[in-house]
Amino acid sequence: MKWIIANFKSNKTLPEVLEWIGQVGPKIHSQEGVKVVLCPTFTALEEAKTTIQTSGYPLLVGSQDLSPYDEGAYTGEETAVILKQFVDMAILGHSERRKNFGETDEAVAKKVAQALAHQIIPLVCVQDENTPIPAGCQIIAYEPVFAIGTGQPDTPENANKVAEAIKQKHEELEVLYGGSVNSTNCQSFTAMEHISGLLVGKDSLDSEEFVKIVNAVT
Ligand code: PGA
Repeated sequence: MKWIIANFKSNKTLPEVLEWIGQVGPKIHSQEGVKVVLCPTFTALEEAKTTIQTSGYPLLVGSQDLSPYDEGAYTGEETAVILKQFVDMAILGHSERRKNFGETDEAVAKKVAQALAHQIIPLVCVQDENTPIPAGCQIIAYEPVFAIGTGQPDTPENANKVAEAIKQKHEELEVLYGGSVNSTNCQSFTAMEHISGLLVGKDSLDSEEFVKIVNAVT
């Protein structure tokens, strides 16, 4: 399987997300062995899902986080049971959440458990081969902090080495690469033996650039 995930982070209003879907959806062709996932902000999830479903675009929808708790008195949190209405996947433990919101490995593990309990695929981001990977994960993304949003990606060879080291400890895992992926360098990562796809931030925001990435990889 090859995964290509668009992580919008805190970008795009709802009309902008829908415009992006209208531009990208028709240009992506359903292919066996390829999954393309759009992860917009929480407020765009419902309409993104509805639009994609009604138009029949081969896109999945994911969130960028979810609550470590069940439903209840947890002001401001979006639970897995609520998100499951709209998403197939959740990005968890992104380094921006660890750095800016104090997210710990323990919190990430609780979020993974919530996701799994509600049939949401957890996509845990790890910074290197030493980041703990919670039980039950099947896909993770290797995202070295130096490469995120800097225009300085890791080398495909090193990313492959890290992915291999992770897979030696967790055989069943699919490992994606993220950090300054663009339409020029994307193929060099997915050509690597141990890399099963890409997590794309900044360059997913531009619909044309994102389509180029998907086409290059598939
Ligand atoms: P970037 O972000 O592509 O902007 O480097 C990747 C990510 O943080 O998921």
